[in-house]
Parts: sequence; structure tokens; C-alpha cells
Amino acid sequence: MNNYNISLLPGDGTGPEVINETVKILEKTETKYDVKFNFTNNDLGGDRFLKSNELVTSKDLDELGSSDAILLGAIGHPDVKPGILEQGILLNLRKEFDQYINLRPVVLYPGVETPLANKGPEDINFTVVRENTEGLYAGAGGYIHYGTESEVATQESINTWKAINRCIVYAFEYAKQNGRKKITLCAKTNVLTYAHDLWERIFYDVAENYPEIETDYGHVDAVCMWMVKNPEWFDVIVTDNMFGDIITDLGAMIQGGMGIAAGGNINPEGVSMFEPIGGSAPKYTGKNIINPLASIAAASMMLNQLGEEKYADDIENAIISTAQKLDSLSAGKMGMSTSEVGDTVLNSILNN
Ligand code: IPM
Ligand code: MG
Repeated sequence: MNNYNISLLPGDGTGPEVINETVKILEKTETKYDVKFNFTNNDLGGDRFLKSNELVTSKDLDELGSSDAILLGAIGHPDVKPGILEQGILLNLRKEFDQYINLRPVVLYPGVETPLANKGPEDINFTVVRENTEGLYAGAGGYIHYGTESEVATQESINTWKAINRCIVYAFEYAKQNGRKKITLCAKTNVLTYAHDLWERIFYDVAENYPEIETDYGHVDAVCMWMVKNPEWFDVIVTDNMFGDIITDLGAMIQGGMGIAAGGNINPEGVSMFEPIGGSAPKYTGKNIINPLASIAAASMMLNQLGEEKYADDIENAIISTAQKLDSLSAGKMGMSTSEVGDTVLNSILNN
């Protein structure tokens, strides 16, 4: 039997509700897969910050760092100034644990509505590999003459060979292991003539080791256009942190919305953190109407990362069959409550 220590970070807003459903499913299915989870709850998030002014403490880091994986609900609180929790918790954890890949599958499941006309599941099925530690997210920059009309603010994009190389190698390895045929580098080489020139050079250098994988290049603006017009052109997209942030929200929309979109912050050699990408949705909090499928999908990604592929696939298939039973993937419009969606996924796993 495989034992896994999982740190739960339910966090803010609807985070605890979706994590509850996810944990319920894992606890009731673990024996079927000969797995044992030991869950540890951690209360970091907006409420704790408002009470104690603590973001991530060294005790949190010790606890999270000794787990096999982290499952995050959502971070974001209406009473906390935007940026504090995002920087202080989410981005901080990504950096502390060197989760250098942000993996975001964009898959339209059968029966799920996409806003793209005349596109179906056979057209929308790709994965974005986003660099997750640097670029514009590195925190390099500052102010001079703060608060005056002479103020200057800079925010520099940091691009190191090491971080780009490990990200691109990951993308090619991911493609190879998942039967993907093509990788598109999404960048802006016509304007970011230093940083993205480095990306492009590394991309084609690494590609030489993977002759079986086709390479392609798209400027980020064109990639946005094609994601809407010809999503079937994409198989794996590798990109920097900022562009990856932007195109994955677009990706979430074309796969049916935030109700279903999950991502992994991955350190292949360390502790990875999995999350529904939708945020804390304060207006839906506590109503039992939020869609837990994205969080359950995050758990499926987590199991894949832990090497429990069969378990992961079965959860994904249960998500697919549950999604087909919902009126909509949007909070409050599902035709089921949060817990009923959880139960439906659970029964589908137990009965398959
Ligand atoms: C995401 C989010 C975060 C990001 C925010 C909340 C800091 O948008 O995970 O995509 O920009 O990475
Ligand atoms: Mg984002």
C-alpha cells in the first residue's frame, strides 16, 4: 500500500467547500486503489492573515515541505488589499518550493459547452507548460520618487538560462511521455528581443534531442487568436510566466470555464501543489453552489504526479461523466449542489 502525506490548504472563500468534496472523494476511494492518505489541514489564507498578520510562517513551510503534495483550495479575501495574499502566499509558496512548472491542461470534455462556435472535444485538447518562477513574476524592480509626479516604477522580466532550460526540457519530456506530437513556443520574439531570443534559442537547442516532436512558434497575441480560431493546432504550448498566466485564463474559458480548470505547480524533484484555478469566489461562499470539479481535477493531477496513474484516470473519467450530468459548469447553475456533484463523482468512481 502506498502512503501519502497530503497538506490541505483550503484557504479562502469557496476553497474549503471544494477541498471538502475532494477530500471526501479521496477518503472514500483510497482503499479501492490500495492507497492511504494522511491529510494535514493548514489554515493559511486571508482569515488567518486578518487575525494574526501571518502569511506563510516557517512552521507552515516545514509542514508543507514534509508532505508528498499540497492541495490548495483558493487564496483571495475581499477584505485584504489585492496583491498581499497572492504575493505573500501563492507566489511565495511556488518560489519556496521551487515549483518551476505550472501545468495547465486545456481539455474540453464531451457534453461541456464551449463558447467557441463549431468546436468540440476533438479540437480543444492541449496542455500549457508555464514557467512558474521568474519572468515578470520575479519581483525585480522598484520605485524612485514614490508618490510624486517624478515617480518612476520598474518591473523587470528576469529570464535565466537555467529556468528556461528546465521548463523547456520539462515540456518536451511531458510531450514525449504523454504521446503529444507538437510543441509550440509562445513568446514575443519580435519585441522582447533579448529575453525571448534566449527562450527561442534554448527551445530549438532542446528540440534537437526530440526529433520525433514537431516544433512550432507563435507570438503570444497570435496564439490568443488561434486559441479561439483554431485551437486544434495546439498540442503542448510552452511559455513564460506572464504569458502563461494570460493564455491559461483564455484556455479555461474555451474548456468550459473556471468550474473545470485545474493546474499543478510542479517541482518534479520536490513538493508540488495542485489547485483549481478559479479563485476564491467570495460571492458564492458558503452556499453549497460552487462547482468542485476543478478541485477534484486538481486531485487527479496530483495523483498522476505521485505515480498513481490508474487512480488519476478513474477520477478524470468520473469528472467527465459527472460534467455531462450538469446543466452548466457555472456556480449556482449546475442543477446540483456542490456536495451532490461530489457524491456523483464519488459514486461514479466506486461503481466503475
Ligand atoms: C494564477 C493566478 C495567479 C498568477 C495570481 C493569483 C497571482 O492568476 O495562478 O494564474 O498570476 O499566477
Ligand atoms: Mg492566472
